[in-house]
Amino acid sequence: MTTEIFNAKTQKENGTNYAGRVIRAGGLVAFPTETVYGLGANGLDGEAVAKIFEAKGRPQDNPLILHVAKKSDVKALWRHIPDNAKRLMDAFWPGPLTLIFVKSDIIPEEVTAGLDTVAVRMPEHKTALALIRAAGVPIAAPSANISGRPSPTTAEHVLADMDGRIDVILDGGPCSVGVESTVLTLVGKPRILRPGGITKEMLEQIIGEVEVDPSVLRPLREGEVAASPGMKHKHYAPDAEVVVAVGSWRRIASIICREYEIAEAMGKRCIILGTEQTRTCYHGMNCDIIGNRDLPQTLCAELFSALRRYSGKVDVIFAEGVPETDQGLAYMNRLLRASGFTVLDK
Ligand code: TXA
Ligand code: MG
Repeated sequence: MTTEIFNAKTQKENGTNYAGRVIRAGGLVAFPTETVYGLGANGLDGEAVAKIFEAKGRPQDNPLILHVAKKSDVKALWRHIPDNAKRLMDAFWPGPLTLIFVKSDIIPEEVTAGLDTVAVRMPEHKTALALIRAAGVPIAAPSANISGRPSPTTAEHVLADMDGRIDVILDGGPCSVGVESTVLTLVGKPRILRPGGITKEMLEQIIGEVEVDPSVLRPLREGEVAASPGMKHKHYAPDAEVVVAVGSWRRIASIICREYEIAEAMGKRCIILGTEQTRTCYHGMNCDIIGNRDLPQTLCAELFSALRRYSGKVDVIFAEGVPETDQGLAYMNRLLRASGFTVLDK
């Protein structure tokens, strides 16, 4: 198939109306959200949803998020709306927060991979909202990358992975948050299955204590069942080795300098994903300053884009760990997975 591309600004009405018809007709549309680009299909049409798994090469057991254009749309998708969900929706929707609760009868099993719960979010991006409205149905959408690769934060990233595999791409420019939404289950005690732009600290201000699933910062142990099936699959891997140094920023810089020299002496091409704080630490080395350690959201915004930029171009990508607080938790979750948990602390 030929993939048609529309500019979401200059071809606003045409693009979203056409794409809405494509969704209703069972096709696939990639669209911008504030987090990453999504690959959407009609969330109430099992056959259309199955095409998403095919286009991405996504494991069948990994459920999808339904995207809605207004809060009240959730009523039809969950068995009921728990109180804490109402409060969180009022505080953070539209925005990068996905909520999981017991599903209603109208959800096709292709969306939930056979689970009895369904994940729902209302994105903030105008183009995403306009598309959902034009389609007139909830849109099931994972990130619009080939499974395992870094999520796309520009239309160019989507095209690189999905050209010829999907019907339409709506190009809305770069995504502002840069990592996928926070995934919070409200079945039982509220628990973060995937950290994102809405932080544990922010959630706790609204509903009190929130747990963080242990799989967020370490690999699953043998025999352990993934609370979020997506967590057990290989993720965010660029075509290069990724190494994460942790500790104080001075310690990090000294570990990276040492390891860079060793790798370079072995003939490996290297890049450092540095920060404002370590800007002057890497004399004569290839370094790309991607953000500020004190503002981890700036690192989140650039991470996937940087991983794609150097994928296949270098042999080793050195990255700096940050404290796992605020958006630092989301940054470390993605970085650790991209590195296959390759961490150096001395
Ligand atoms: O920001 C985002 O969330 C983006 C944009 C496009 O909205 N979407 C996204 O979708 O990241 P995806 O499919 O790449 O990630 C969804 C995550 C997966 O880890 C999946 O396992 C988990 O949410 N998930 C979905 N439904 C679930 C459920 N019912 N129970 C547990 N985990 C679920
Ligand atoms: Mg994904």
